[in-house]
Amino acid sequence: MPCWSSEADEAEAESVEAVPTLVFAFSEGVGAWAERGLPNATIRVVPPTITTDALVDTLRGAVWAERVVCCLQNDADGPAHSRAAIQLFRIARALLLCGKGQEAIEFVTVTEAGVAVQTGEIAAPDPAGALGFIGCLAKELPNWRIKAADIARVDHIGLAQILGLPRDPEGNVVALREGRRLRQRFTDCALAPVHESAFRKGGVYVVIGGAGRLGEVLSAHLVRHYDAKVIWVGRSPLSDAVQTKIDRLARFGPAPEYLRADARDPAGVGGVQI
Ligand SMILES: NC(=O)c1ccc[n+]([C@@H]2O[C@H](COP(=O)([O-])OP(=O)(O)OC[C@H]3O[C@@H](n4cnc5c(N)ncnc54)[C@H](OP(=O)(O)O)[C@@H]3O)[C@@H](O)[C@H]2O)c1
Repeated sequence: MPCWSSEADEAEAESVEAVPTLVFAFSEGVGAWAERGLPNATIRVVPPTITTDALVDTLRGAVWAERVVCCLQNDADGPAHSRAAIQLFRIARALLLCGKGQEAIEFVTVTEAGVAVQTGEIAAPDPAGALGFIGCLAKELPNWRIKAADIARVDHIGLAQILGLPRDPEGNVVALREGRRLRQRFTDCALAPVHESAFRKGGVYVVIGGAGRLGEVLSAHLVRHYDAKVIWVGRSPLSDAVQTKIDRLARFGPAPEYLRADARDPAGVGGVQI
């Protein structure tokens, strides 16, 4: 079960060295916040819709920095091409186009409310969407020293505290809340003992998408262990590949039946006769 736990005792924060730093902010307010936290940094407030080419120009025009900070914005109402993940993608792409892929730059991302770590918090989908991409960047660009911080709000914390985080080679996000540093971990989950399966011996199961990967795994379980009659619903016509799956499962029990319907169409699904 995923849970967020404090890591204050487990890892010491890095000291914030005086390294040349370039900060990308997408609003004047966040730019001013960054400047207060790191007065010597070069701050670039750019529009959320800035293109990769314009970012390349910005990078070429800036004093070269060994640390790049991206303060991604949380704007679910903005146009799709201004989303946090897209901003991040464009900044990373611009850095690559400037030949920085092999350099040991420190790459810091700051998201607001991208994860829900304590009661009452709700993860905002816009910054949350950027977090998976940060993990990819960390794995694809091992030379980059990646730090990903998620904060409740920019005015709750100073930039220096974020920069002091240890790097994470996996690009996992660290949530900073009320002076605590929290990381997601997985703990064992004690489930109530199952006395009786919800599946019935000889039952009939309609599996929408049953011919897909997960559907096939579920169907194999139902056929093997419950002697179940499985009906697969999919939009495509019955293909040789699906027939091969049916034939394979038929070796273990009743052959799944394939019916063609679109689950989004109530009339189509209602017409499935078992
Ligand atoms: N595979 C994994 O490891 C994994 C892990 C976590 C979550 N998931 C999620 O579980 C779902 C299934 O994954 P999968 O890997 O089994 O995908 P998949 O192999 O692409 O199978 C999806 C199946 O759903 C059918 N389907 C799609 N839209 C449909 C519709 N409107 N009406 C009826 N059938 C429809 C497709 O057939 P037609 O195109 O012919 O309709 C296809 O057979 C996805 O949402 C996936 O994101 C998968």
